[in-house]
Amino acid sequence: MILVTGATGNVGGAVLEQLVEAGQPVRALVRDPARLGERGGKVAVVQGDLSKPETLDAAFAGADRAFLVCAGGDLPELAGNAAGAAKKAGVKHIVLLSSSSVVSAPDIQIGRWHREAEARVKSSGVSWTMIQPGGFASNTLQWAGSIKAQGAVFQPLGDAKTRPIDERDIAAVAVKALTSAGHEGKEYVLAGPEALSAAEQVAKIGAAIGRPLRYVDVSEDAAREQMTKAGLPEVFIRAVLEAFALIRVGNGEEPSPTVEELLGRRARTFDEWLERHVEAFR
Ligand SMILES: NC(=O)c1ccc[n+]([C@@H]2O[C@H](COP(=O)([O-])OP(=O)(O)OC[C@H]3O[C@@H](n4cnc5c(N)ncnc54)[C@H](OP(=O)(O)O)[C@@H]3O)[C@@H](O)[C@H]2O)c1
Repeated sequence: MILVTGATGNVGGAVLEQLVEAGQPVRALVRDPARLGERGGKVAVVQGDLSKPETLDAAFAGADRAFLVCAGGDLPELAGNAAGAAKKAGVKHIVLLSSSSVVSAPDIQIGRWHREAEARVKSSGVSWTMIQPGGFASNTLQWAGSIKAQGAVFQPLGDAKTRPIDERDIAAVAVKALTSAGHEGKEYVLAGPEALSAAEQVAKIGAAIGRPLRYVDVSEDAAREQMTKAGLPEVFIRAVLEAFALIRVGNGEEPSPTVEELLGRRARTFDEWLERHVEAFR
């Protein structure tokens, strides 16, 4: 049985869906089962919190593989707790959702968090695969509020390009690593198929909703103010601004052939991602 964490989120949700479609036995570990919505009816669900090790033994019991998403807290600690519980339960293989920053920006805060999370999994004694994607296409969902209210997106990214990746492609690689042999000890850097600036992504969203939208390149101070107003914690704001500064000088544009090599098809484009999410921007 495969234990899936992060199942109420972008990637874990897609992993759960694809494992169910493939007929694999799965169990979702969630903090609040109600947040699983319709997905909850199709799978076994167990309540657990990666920040509370005492909740994890029962959650991991009987699992032979695990998909780990560590988010919204102290990533290394969450990864260490999960890997420890996995080892105790006799899990044979862990697939960890990590980040390309481990390779492309190991010394910024986000890179350090993920490097340390990977280290905790690697030292657990359980076999592992690291999934290391760059920026998610779903990050643009954070623009929905200002698109609806002001017809505009405010970001400090200039005309820098990134390669937004569809969460279904990240999930498909994770599912492959969970359900077939030969992925032990592998680190898969993933990227979307096209390099797009924020302005180009905004234009695509505008075309999809049939309304011209503005992209406004703002200063780092303005972006900080925006995130502070949104209630984001200071440590997260600093980490994001540090990552943005690197993106502005070209970090995030690197292509990766891994999705195509592993899945035997090209990675999904931003337009394909948008087809499924367009309603969020109307
Ligand atoms: N966004 C990017 O561009 C990007 C790029 C590379 C890597 N990443 C990495 O990808 C991960 C985020 O993936 P995502 O976008 O799929 O996540 P997401 O949509 O933000 O969802 C986070 C998931 O983690 C769960 N969670 C949070 N804290 C938990 C805890 N203490 N115990 C158990 N579950 C917990 C949440 O469950 P609840 O329903 O309980 O909140 C939710 O299911 C992060 O590690 C991030 O650094 C992101």
